[in-house]
Amino acid sequence: MLLSAFAVVGCGKKAEEPAASAASEAAPAVAQVAEYVVGTDASYAPFEFQNDQNQIVGFDIEVLSAVADKGGFKVKFVNTPWEGMFATLAQGDRDILSSAITITDERKQSMDFSEPYFEARQLIAVGKGVTDVKTFQDLKSKKVAVQTGTTGDEVVQKLLGKTSSSIKRFESMPLALKELETGGVDAAVGDNGVVINYVKNNPQHGMTTVEDLQSFAPEYYGFAVKKGNQELLDKVNAGIKAIKADGTYDQIFNKYFGTK
Ligand code: ARG
Repeated sequence: MLLSAFAVVGCGKKAEEPAASAASEAAPAVAQVAEYVVGTDASYAPFEFQNDQNQIVGFDIEVLSAVADKGGFKVKFVNTPWEGMFATLAQGDRDILSSAITITDERKQSMDFSEPYFEARQLIAVGKGVTDVKTFQDLKSKKVAVQTGTTGDEVVQKLLGKTSSSIKRFESMPLALKELETGGVDAAVGDNGVVINYVKNNPQHGMTTVEDLQSFAPEYYGFAVKKGNQELLDKVNAGIKAIKADGTYDQIFNKYFGTK
């Protein structure tokens, strides 16, 4: 017994890792587990939002928490505005960003992304009584709301022009969709999961969604770390791999989105 216990301790390359998994079952005394500060814009249901007790919850939160469990580290989520979020990584105020962030080539210049953990696509929401929007192109003559600096903002810029006065930008997705509810714009464009969730939960406003698979490419969400933080990135990727392999990921996915 003693020998094998000794062997286990002796062969761990980093004392941290075996201690971390033991700590979750047994006494927390041993563990010197790293805790990372995670930035998330918690106004993005069902991915990250605040529940009635003001706790930050959602799909991304559960996925990253499970990843941390498997990866042998801890996470602390901090509500962080979307605008300026990327800068918090570079400044060292946040270690990880978990915010339904689409992996793009441009963003890869300034931060490192984990393996993708979710596939999304842009989706159009149109206001009550707007019947002439069948495709993305039909937004050419419309006023469109987006969340500033998102991939939704990017696609709409391509259609209407970066400085077009037909684009109304908001600091959060709920504010963009509120504008649609009240008729300030004809449409809003954003990530499908969030748009569907909002339209479904606010039926009294008569908004509907328009899908355009031709115009919108699939997007992949990743967790972001500071450029060059390979050690943390490796831990996150190992955790993602583990939760995909053991069914934890599917369990969380099904809880939020039903079976694939
Ligand atoms: N996926 C989109 C992007 O990366 C929108 C993400 C917005 N996330 C949020 N929590 N507000 O640009």
